[in-house]
Amino acid sequence: MNFDDLPPALRSTFLPPPRLLMGPGPITCDPRVLQAMSHQLVGQFDPSMTACMNQAMALYRGVFRTENRWTFLVDSTARGGIEACLVSLLEPGDRVLVPVMGRFGQLLTEIAERCGAQVHTISVPWGEVCAPEQVAEALDRVRPKLLATVQGDTSTTMCQPLDEFGRLCRERDVLFYCDCTASIVGNPFETDGWGLDAVSAGLQKCLGGPSGIAPVTLSDRAAAVIRERRHVERGIRAEGDEDAGGERIRSNYFDLAMIMDYWSEARLNHHTEATSMLYGARECARIALEEGIDNAVERHRVAGEALAAGLAAMGLRLFGDQAHRMHNVVGVYIPDGVDGEAVRGRMLTDFAIEIGTSFGPLHGVIWRIGTMGYNARRDAVLTTLACLEQCLRREGFAAPAGEAVAAALDVFA
Ligand SMILES: Cc1ncc(COP(=O)(O)O)c(C=O)c1O
Repeated sequence: MNFDDLPPALRSTFLPPPRLLMGPGPITCDPRVLQAMSHQLVGQFDPSMTACMNQAMALYRGVFRTENRWTFLVDSTARGGIEACLVSLLEPGDRVLVPVMGRFGQLLTEIAERCGAQVHTISVPWGEVCAPEQVAEALDRVRPKLLATVQGDTSTTMCQPLDEFGRLCRERDVLFYCDCTASIVGNPFETDGWGLDAVSAGLQKCLGGPSGIAPVTLSDRAAAVIRERRHVERGIRAEGDEDAGGERIRSNYFDLAMIMDYWSEARLNHHTEATSMLYGARECARIALEEGIDNAVERHRVAGEALAAGLAAMGLRLFGDQAHRMHNVVGVYIPDGVDGEAVRGRMLTDFAIEIGTSFGPLHGVIWRIGTMGYNARRDAVLTTLACLEQCLRREGFAAPAGEAVAAALDVFA
């Protein structure tokens, strides 16, 4: 192939257009994270690299609010973090209980099924959350090895209260897992305080980074279950290396026992570290701790409330149980007679703002508008509301002039 014969678009460097990403994630990346990711690579076992890994472990203990030794990063998007936890904890035939309140609860069931687990669910309508009594009853009935939950299910914008689930699990000797990808740092989250055994997250929501790395933390209890399945890869096995007695984890890439060996002092080689992502993840955690987790949660709460107030003032109806709405994403009904995709198209073309569509039963029914991470800011919320008002008017919906921005300003005041 001759380079000069390629079309001009292929011959030039790709430059993404400027955008304000106000969907359910990814969101506009914090410039400090982009800057951190532009640093040069160092070798995988360079002392500066392993020091950076240890620093990331320490910083994410702060983000997750845990003392867990096993707090580290899995090189994959958030879905890979979920898969790593589930495939490493669940053996074929194990029972798992999953409260399903949206798409990401369903994702847990799909991943657990692929692990060969027997999957039991508690289903609540989209737009609601699950009560502790429902979980207690199901735990007694199913007697699972693992309770697998999602805190903030972006598909419905609901935030599942988790504070009582840990006690229910401990009383029954059940492991407790949570996917907090979409909620951590924007909503209260307490790994140790809520008795969680395994947690996985992603960077692309309230942590203000790109997707591509999944922070994970494991209690000693969960780590012991996983270490029972430890296996050293054939090609790097040294004399004296013995496998533990448990069944080998059925994924190589997501084998947390091997990834723990890689993040431990042993530094047993697994994959080649995604160095630029590690730099970015470290910076995300540093920024969150510099602000203070409580302050970050409060910033998200205020921004979400201002966004919701603005949308309501525009005459739009909010989706779901507002008492349990995530701070960082608001679901809002597309008004009757309005073409939801035409509005999203106008937002992007005229104002370079992205708002979110929806999945499954909510597709074409609601938009999801996020205000999170770097974009949980007053100007981002006010701009989005002002522009949405214009787009709605162009599409025939008589949004009252200026009311949305005024209502949001009142919240910020
Ligand atoms: C709650 C939740 N879990 C998991 C994921 C999957 O993340 P990723 O696309 O990074 O794999 C998402 C993405 O939106 C999410 O919102």
